[in-house]
Amino acid sequence: MCGIVGYVGKDNAKDIVVDGLKRLEYRGYDSAGIALIVDEKICVYKKQGKIRNLEIELHKLPIFSNLGIGHTRWATHGKPDDVNAHPHVDCAEKIALVHNGIIENYSELRRELQGKGHKFTSQTDTEVVVHLIEEELKNSSTFFEAFLKAVRRLHGSYALAVITLYQPDTIFVARKDSPLVIGLGEGENFVASDVPAFLSYTNRVIFLDDFEVATVKSDGVSVFNYDGERIEKRVTVIPWSLSQAEKAGYKHFMLKEIYEQPRAIADTISGNLNWFHGETELKGISPDSFNRIQIVACGTSYHAGLITKFYFENLAGIPTEVDYASEYRYREPIVDGKTLVISITQSGETADTLAAMRLAKSRGAKLLTVCNVIGSTATREADAVVYTYAGPEISVASTKAFTTQLTALFLFALWLSRSRKTLSEERVERYLKELLEVSSKVETLLKLEKEKATIKNTALEFYRSKDALYLGRNVNYPIALEGALKLKEISYIHAEGYPAGEMKHGPIALIDENVPVIVVATKGKVLDKVISNIEEVKARKGRVIAVTNPDVKKVKELAEYTLEVPEADEYLSPLVNIVPLQLFAYYIADFLGYDVDQPRNLAKSVTVE
Ligand code: M6R
Repeated sequence: MCGIVGYVGKDNAKDIVVDGLKRLEYRGYDSAGIALIVDEKICVYKKQGKIRNLEIELHKLPIFSNLGIGHTRWATHGKPDDVNAHPHVDCAEKIALVHNGIIENYSELRRELQGKGHKFTSQTDTEVVVHLIEEELKNSSTFFEAFLKAVRRLHGSYALAVITLYQPDTIFVARKDSPLVIGLGEGENFVASDVPAFLSYTNRVIFLDDFEVATVKSDGVSVFNYDGERIEKRVTVIPWSLSQAEKAGYKHFMLKEIYEQPRAIADTISGNLNWFHGETELKGISPDSFNRIQIVACGTSYHAGLITKFYFENLAGIPTEVDYASEYRYREPIVDGKTLVISITQSGETADTLAAMRLAKSRGAKLLTVCNVIGSTATREADAVVYTYAGPEISVASTKAFTTQLTALFLFALWLSRSRKTLSEERVERYLKELLEVSSKVETLLKLEKEKATIKNTALEFYRSKDALYLGRNVNYPIALEGALKLKEISYIHAEGYPAGEMKHGPIALIDENVPVIVVATKGKVLDKVISNIEEVKARKGRVIAVTNPDVKKVKELAEYTLEVPEADEYLSPLVNIVPLQLFAYYIADFLGYDVDQPRNLAKSVTVE
């Protein structure tokens, strides 16, 4: 949560930092601020609300500065107002700092610093850091020394960017448990929480690791460990283009990302065929080296995990558990060297998922991560990585990340099934063929929606609903969960996902003529059972919207509305079936006039616990 940006170079830091913040707004949008060095002074501008408010304010000011830092906030400590907005400054107003993360020992540090006469203006945990640097400066010969001494005293998580009048040509950065990336330009350099912030200027980056600090100047970047020793870092070239991180004429990123799914699925297959065909190794993972799988993930990625349990158990014959990472980290999971722990994470920066991975590793498990972001923390900490090739996902509501996670994990399950001989070569080939066809099935569905607007019109009928129930069974039960998550997170309508067969044990009491019941009823071994569940809903006057295939007559007769999807192999049907539910949620939120890409209270990347 929170996005930080910094720039040092020949151009105006004000514009570059604000532009970068806009691209990171998905990380938090309670307030925004920047600090610039202008005429040997630190100038700070902050505004509650979205970056647009800050931008309007700054527009009036003809300021030029070669160096600046900025922040877009997702509040943790202190309400989202101008005072608590970052950057924060020290008492002498010679140091300004932005922070992403949580300083866990801030109360004791604050007491100590107040005892020494420091005056605090905000309720944030962050402000202690800037005063701590000011304090350490009293006993240090350089600003860098004071900065290092201060960060060594911090507990918790942080990505920090600091500017100071004591060394006005440098941005000081530090990282522990929150992402920080340095962009390398010509005569200019950048820092940010995420690459899209500076992707229009450079795609050459250095990922900072935990317990590393760096000094970033216009003509060079130096990275050090916490002992102040210089370290060499690898430069990574990011393959994403800026256009992938822009809306390209779509009203919202979410809609664009839904429509990108055919391409993203196809890219994820082709990007992973090397190891699938044994031309490259899936480093660190040998298919026979484990006898069970544990999947850890959050939110939408967790739903992808629930579906892939079917792949690992039914196709590869490997017992598989799926946990919310936030629960896994506090239970006592039974893990040993024969356990493969798979973390699924679009961002690779989700704090709970990283904590679960670290716990599993400390108990001897091998770690595989399925991730969309090259160089993210998860990819650096795992033994092996399977990348999804979704491209940047900007909308807070995850769509293409989900379908590409399923694609990558289905490939991985097929790879295991072939190596462990639980499927014949012919069946593996048949499944691969089916997988290759998914992309065009999703494309057909999206094209049809453009022509007929069936999903949009159904959303128009239901957008005033107060509650919604999503039902599915078997491999499509997690699709009910994911459909409900999509609706609630962007439209704020209460929605629940349930296994259709479980409805009679409680949720059936919710059904009346006002509640839309969205049922996933595509072909497969439980279709007849789902049809009986639809009958039960109808008998209670529930309004059924069914996701089904064109030739499933019975469902079409029963349902008030049908959202048709092309028929796919049952295991792959979730990749197709989720698409109308993504669009349904999208249109409802849009009809309600909500900020689809940046829903209230949420942030794209949840880097705090
Ligand atoms: O980056 P991750 O995949 O680890 O993120 C996990 C969840 O925070 C994420 O999927 C979240 O649930 C989305 N907002 C759902 O649309």
